[in-house]
Amino acid sequence: MTTTRSVKKKPAKKVTASKKKKAVKLRAKKPQSNHKSKLYANLVVQLLSLLKGEHDLIANAANFSALLFNSLPNVNWAGFYFLQEDELVLGPFQGNPACVRIPMGKGVCGVAAQQCETIIVPNVHEFPGHIACDVASNSEIVVPLFDGERLLGVLDLDSPTIGRFDDQDAEGLNELVTVFVAHEEGLE
Ligand code: SME
Repeated sequence: MTTTRSVKKKPAKKVTASKKKKAVKLRAKKPQSNHKSKLYANLVVQLLSLLKGEHDLIANAANFSALLFNSLPNVNWAGFYFLQEDELVLGPFQGNPACVRIPMGKGVCGVAAQQCETIIVPNVHEFPGHIACDVASNSEIVVPLFDGERLLGVLDLDSPTIGRFDDQDAEGLNELVTVFVAHEEGLE
């Protein structure tokens, strides 16, 4: 015995203006994230080329900060704080002059260093204890640098744009600092 199943054809849905808008938004999202991952992949290549044959920490950190400052859009400060004893001390950077010493646990840098994790701050004015070095800064990302388990310092980036940094930036910057530390430690 054969059975038949009738499939009722649904009436064609009306595409309203708001639905059209949503579709455009969804289409626009993917190329943007591809763009970011391509940007960071390209930065890895450029960083490796800058580091090639040179192991001086200050010189390489200076070029690394210049690379980030000049390649990443909407960034007004990019640089390093290195751990000395129990505080973070300003290293090579690009941007306005900044505070020299940050105690562990203080500011975004000190908290990222103490917790040993990347911190994305969409709005620095809402971060308790944020240390303002440049009045133009509105968002920030801080990425800790490790040699194995040992904390070496942090990479800090500021932006005048609220919500400038996202998980893709965190991923890309973590990859870059891993390449940097491996090179400085002579692992590459
Ligand atoms: N905002 C940082 C201080 C360093 S500057 O941004 C360069 C902080 O809160 O730790």
